[in-house]
Amino acid sequence: MAGSPVSTHTPSDGPAPDGPSAQEQRQMEQAYAQMKRKMAMQSLGKRIKHKIMVLSGKGGVGKSTVSTGLALSLAQQGHKVGILDIDITGPNVPKMMGLDGRRLHVEEGRIHPAQGHLGVKVISMAFLLDDDDTPVVWRGPIKLGAIQQFIGDVEWGDLDYLVIDFPPGTSDEPLTVAQSLPDIDGMVIVTTPQDVALLDSRKSIGFAESLKVPVLGVVENMSGYTLHGRAPAGTEVQIAGPGGRTHSATADGDGAFQVTLDLFKQGGGAATAEEFGIPFLGALPFDPGFVRGGDDGVHRIVSDPEGAASVAFADVVAAIQAQIGQSGGTGLEIV
Ligand SMILES: Nc1ncnc2c1ncn2[C@@H]1O[C@H](COP(=O)(O)OP(=O)(O)O)[C@@H](O)[C@H]1O
Ligand SMILES: [Mg+2]
Repeated sequence: MAGSPVSTHTPSDGPAPDGPSAQEQRQMEQAYAQMKRKMAMQSLGKRIKHKIMVLSGKGGVGKSTVSTGLALSLAQQGHKVGILDIDITGPNVPKMMGLDGRRLHVEEGRIHPAQGHLGVKVISMAFLLDDDDTPVVWRGPIKLGAIQQFIGDVEWGDLDYLVIDFPPGTSDEPLTVAQSLPDIDGMVIVTTPQDVALLDSRKSIGFAESLKVPVLGVVENMSGYTLHGRAPAGTEVQIAGPGGRTHSATADGDGAFQVTLDLFKQGGGAATAEEFGIPFLGALPFDPGFVRGGDDGVHRIVSDPEGAASVAFADVVAAIQAQIGQSGGTGLEIV
């Protein structure tokens, strides 16, 4: 084929009898694409300063909410940020980033990310799906090939941070990423304070160790719900919380009071972190605004940049940055 980047035939061989067969040609092109991808993956190690994987043992604990929140919080600090959403079964990052219904933009064989809120670059498996309602059943090799392509063939440009959101549990996806992407700083494990989620997050910690990716720490999501109310100044109010617990608060001089209710349990994330000797990165409040934001495409951090949730995210980001500073990016190397 004229202009083919790979040729086994050189002029000194004399004329090729028949040229490569179509099958050989395809194999050569595949090998060339694979080589280019591997080189691109290696250069990503340098062009993307920090790479953070976000995992959870269990679905529905808010992993995508946390991934997008971390990305947006980092972008608020003025960093160049990207999100890679690898969850094929429930890729809802585009929705949370206001990019629902987008398609991938491919130019000269390179995939260009979409730009969501605060300029965050987004690549998602959702961009490959025809509609949201069709369940995706991808065979393992196709899925893993797509992930490698999403790492090697995406034109991220220079980024300070890449946040990678995964499907829940100990699937093949994190392994593929850990083997393909050099210098991963580490993984953040998201849990809720319930026993079932905590149990699963313990599995994730063991899994992280088997991937040889450092664990940056545990984030407890849906940690407590803060009620705000008003009563005459100085009044003591009593609120019946979940689990039969009574909470009391006193209205301040302006007549405002607030009470934080633990909807599940208290302090499970911190206890799990302590049990495994890994850092506790902080707690994020239960905030119905996250659900609305997930549905209408405006993340809480964008709609309320000064609010309690944004402040909590900024604290978690600071804890992660402190860990990255300490661990110094001891990820896997491509060999
Ligand atoms: N801190 C929170 N407060 C309230 N709702 C939340 C919070 N975090 C996540 N959610 C909601 O929980 C649901 C699951 O969150 P999601 O991020 O999709 O979880 P996962 O990616 O772990 O499956 C979503 O409807 C989301 O809006
Ligand atoms: Mg998710």
